Parts: sequence; structure tokens; C-alpha cells
Amino acid sequence: MLKILLLVSLSVAFATEEDEFFFYGHEYRRTELGDAVDKASMRLLKDLYESSEEKNVITSPLGVLTLLSLYSTGTTGKVKEEIVKYLGLPDYKKMTESYSSLTEKFTSMNPDFLTMANKVCVASRYELADEFTNVATRDYHSEVQALNFTNPSEAARIINEWADQKTRGNIKEPVDKDTFPPETAAALFNIIFFQGHWHVPFEKTDTVDKKFHLSATESVDKPTMHLLQSLFYHEDRELGARMIELPYKEEGFRMVIVLPDAVDGLSAVLDKLAQKGMLEDVFAMSPPGQDVDIDMPKFEVKSKFNLKNVLVKEGLSSIFNQPAEEIVKGQGVEVSEVFQEAFVKVDEEGATAGAFTGVVLVATSLLSQPPPPLPFKVDRPFLYAILHQDIVLFVGTYTH
Ligand SMILES: *[C@@H]1O[C@H](CO)[C@@H](O)[C@H](O)[C@H]1NC(C)=O
Repeated sequence: MLKILLLVSLSVAFATEEDEFFFYGHEYRRTELGDAVDKASMRLLKDLYESSEEKNVITSPLGVLTLLSLYSTGTTGKVKEEIVKYLGLPDYKKMTESYSSLTEKFTSMNPDFLTMANKVCVASRYELADEFTNVATRDYHSEVQALNFTNPSEAARIINEWADQKTRGNIKEPVDKDTFPPETAAALFNIIFFQGHWHVPFEKTDTVDKKFHLSATESVDKPTMHLLQSLFYHEDRELGARMIELPYKEEGFRMVIVLPDAVDGLSAVLDKLAQKGMLEDVFAMSPPGQDVDIDMPKFEVKSKFNLKNVLVKEGLSSIFNQPAEEIVKGQGVEVSEVFQEAFVKVDEEGATAGAFTGVVLVATSLLSQPPPPLPFKVDRPFLYAILHQDIVLFVGTYTH
């Protein structure tokens, strides 16, 4: 019953001539892609929060969206339409151009603070379609590798080594031999890893135990950081929350914290953000004309999700039961699983966050049918997001 909504958003500004516009107080532009990622991120966060027992949630919807955009390259008809609709962009051309530019941007950033990597693996007995290989390597900067999935332990070892290296030891074993059923024909992987340092760090000596409310009547003590600082701030009465933005030294990156007005307000705030996204509020933030007196818990959260049920519930079912014909040469494939492992660690110095997303593709003929001084006390369950400019990289909830 403890509800704190902390929204950390890490966004990359990324605009095309026709749809950019400026917001007062931010040098970032809000783009069609930024809005689409935002809405999909809030929807996924809400659905994961609701469907999971564990209410501390961290996820990078962007990893899922990027792999779906790549997957759509090899699809046609209804499957392609559903993916475009799910990703929230007007058409396939706009969608693939957007994700290809975004991938270009994120894969070429300084890996000291941001890594994005894609990988496509094909079972040794199959070959990828030529055009799919071209798009994966050229537009998604993806590695392409043949893997012997009939030896699933060895395949898992190779993927885990890649994850371990790209996340600097933070995600070590996202897959195991059971990830890859015998009929695995190919698999798509994405990693996003961020290490940011607060523009103004919290003083370690200021961190003391303070109360964190679990409900109107219950609370627990949590190591709580403190900072007095001039920051961007916004109140949204209709949303029932106030928010601040904590900038990182790394340009364009920041964490947005959304603090529900009510101790048990997180669910209601998540519902509203799932409808309208968070960027409107993010871009409405401005200096409040007074310092912000922040208390915020240090926290560490790890999440591991199988996303199939949530994606089906959100209207993306055809990828699981209709073949994509243009990914593997001479063999239709379907998605059997979409999964993600993610973590976030927030302390006095900054934040580290990472996500590993996997999409396993199986040969269709072998498939069984799948189921479809202003006080700001972060002392209740909250939501957070990490953004670069206007692109949401990670979102999460923290409840205790
Ligand atoms: C794949 O692995 C299986 C099981 O270990 C082995 O029998 C087979 O020879 C391997 N195939 C290739 C192409 O390496």
C-alpha cells in the first residue's frame, strides 16, 4: 500500500524538420518519436506494475520497441500493421526511419555513459534473408551471428558473455538453455546500458534513515539522500502529482521523479500517464523560483519479465501466431517469447541502469498455438523515468 511514483527519464532529442518544436526552459525538442516512445513506455510500465507481484519495477520499453521495429522488417500485412500501430508512429516508413536514426544516435554515444547494442542470431541450419541482414546491419547497427541452438547451453553461454561485456558485469545471465526451444530459428537481442553522474551529487554524509510511507498507517525507515538545489519543477493537479528533474552531467540525460500527492496515489497516476504519457508534464517543468529541498531514498531494483502476455493484452498478438516470411530464408518464423531483464541503481553519485531484451523466433511449422526550500519528500511509492532529451530510456516504480 506504499506508493511512490518515481519517474526517471533519460531522453535523447531527436527531431526532424517538420515535427519539432521548442519548449520553454528546455533546449530539447519534442518529437513524434519521443511522444510515441513516451506513450508506449507509460502503458507498458502500468501493465507490468499491475500484472506483477513485485511492485518495484524497472523496464526499458525502448529495448522492446527497437526489436519490434527491427522484426517488422521481415513481416507483411496484418503483422506489420499491428507493429506499426503498437509503436504509435503514423506509418511503416516513418517508423523504420525513426528507429534507424535513433539507433544510429544511441549506438554512437560514448560507451562510458551510454551503450546501445543489437544482435541478431540465426540457427546454424538456417540462413537470414538477405534484405533482413542488410536492414539489421545497416539501419540497426546489429551484429549478425550464426548460433548452434541445438546446443542451447552453448548458445546461452555466448549470449550471456555478450550481455556481461556490454553491461560491464551488471547483467550476467539473462538467458539459459531453456530460453531456446529446439525449434528456435533465430533470436533478436537489444542492450541499453546507462551510467550517469548527477550534475550536482548528493553528499554521502547527508544520507540518513528517514520514514518512507507504505500506506496511510504504515512506514519503514530507508537510507534517504538529501539535496537543496535549484531544479526544474512542475505540479499537475489533474494528474495528482508533482515532479522534479535531476540532471546528469552527461548532456541531455536526466531523471524525472513523479511524486503522487497521495501516499496511495501511484496506481491512479500510472493510469493517467498510461493515457497521456509524461512528456507534456516533463516539458512543462520550469524553475519554481525557489530552491527544492529533496529527500529521496537510495534504491536498487532488478526486474525480470516475460512480456508476451502484456504485449498480447496491449493488442500485439499476431507476432505470436502469424508467420513472418522475410526473416529466415525459406522458413516462416513466429515470435515465441519476448523477455527483458533490467536493473537500476540510484545513489549519491548518480544512476546506473541497464536492460537486456530478447525476442526468440521459432519455425512456424513446429509451433504449438501460443495464448494470446520547496519540500519534495519522496516518501511514498513513486514512478521514475530516465530520458535522454525527449526519449524515454527506462521507466520504473519504487514502492518500498
Ligand atoms: C550443434 O550442436 C550439436 C549438439 O551439441 C552437435 O551435435 C552438432 O554437431 C552441432 N552442429 C554444428 C553445425 O556445429
